[in-house]
Amino acid sequence: MYLLCIFFCVLVRTSDAVKKDIVFLLDGSDNTRKGFPQIQQFVKSIVERMSIDDGKDRVAVVQYTDTPTVQFHLSSYKNKSKLLSAIDKLRHQGGSEVNTGAAMRFTRLMVFTSSWGSRRLEGVPQILVLLTSQPSDDNIKTPAFALKEHEIMTVGVGVGDADFPELETIAFKPNMVYKVNDYAILNSPFLRWKIPD
Ligand SMILES: *[C@@H]1O[C@H](CO)[C@@H](O)[C@H](O)[C@H]1NC(C)=O
Repeated sequence: MYLLCIFFCVLVRTSDAVKKDIVFLLDGSDNTRKGFPQIQQFVKSIVERMSIDDGKDRVAVVQYTDTPTVQFHLSSYKNKSKLLSAIDKLRHQGGSEVNTGAAMRFTRLMVFTSSWGSRRLEGVPQILVLLTSQPSDDNIKTPAFALKEHEIMTVGVGVGDADFPELETIAFKPNMVYKVNDYAILNSPFLRWKIPD
């Protein structure tokens, strides 16, 4: 329960005062196939609470297995209903490997970038929500460090067999990690209640 609160404190801490750019990096491996609709719902439930239409908040989604794929960029949607329907239309990627390190590096270089809508250089908080279901098949240390150096705040969400210590290494702070054993918990009413108005 405590971890849930931390997770959402991070996401909503600045919700009224400041803008934010949030990138969801989603494990699309075979492991997450069954839970993928719940992952989509989880992303949507956070987006619902953001200020998209007034241009305050921006959202991007990257899906990864052995390689990452940009589903849409921070600059893609300025309209919440279109953004939500883009999340509905995501297709599960599929694949046996998860190269979380490569996916984080790719996201830093190709998504958190001004030309694709990141406002990092304007001082807008940069948040990465990494959702993964298993230990990474590649090295995560260097890419995780690079994200921290760029002041990108990574929140780790582990489902299923995710490696908790690995997520603690990746997260901006070790306590920005949130682990669930079941996809259904991602969308438990408790999470919604925890979000301040
Ligand atoms: C967003 O798109 C929908 C559907 O095209 C449209 O009805 C709505 O007015 C748009 N909202 C804004 C704030 O532009």
